[in-house]
Amino acid sequence: MEFKFTNENLAQLDKEIKKYPYKKAAVMAALWLAQEQNGWISGEVMREVASVLEITPEEVLGVVSFYTMYHKKPMGKYHIQVCTNVSCMLRGGYEIFDHVKEKLGIDNLQVTNGGLFSIEEVECMGSCGTAPMIAVNEDYYENTNPDAVEKILQSLTNKN
Ligand code: FES
Repeated sequence: MEFKFTNENLAQLDKEIKKYPYKKAAVMAALWLAQEQNGWISGEVMREVASVLEITPEEVLGVVSFYTMYHKKPMGKYHIQVCTNVSCMLRGGYEIFDHVKEKLGIDNLQVTNGGLFSIEEVECMGSCGTAPMIAVNEDYYENTNPDAVEKILQSLTNKN
């Protein structure tokens, strides 16, 4: 499906581009805006980002494939990232990860039927001092545990 930035996002991207000496340097910001608009980074999205920044789609693909924060396929309305890096792992990160997978009935990088939830095991999200932590979309939940995470899932389910 064709993808074009909205005028609002083009204006935002223009501001990002002006921060750098070269348009290409704004590729991460462009991809983040595109993901917010489209939900994930498709081939069409990469072509549009390449076109706006006057670089090749292959250069864009290099960035998309390197960083896990860019979704390579559609994810759930609530994308749950569970950190299992050292601090979180030592304080129960894997117990949380396994619990969420079991509750949702999905494995890493899968989406529940109906598209409400997806789960992703991630590396350190910079919140080690309050490990273990998860993120639901942009929101962090820190010093958490399987029971607390289950309540979060329940409240998100009840909203829909
Ligand atoms: S190790 Fe989990 S946030 Fe740093």
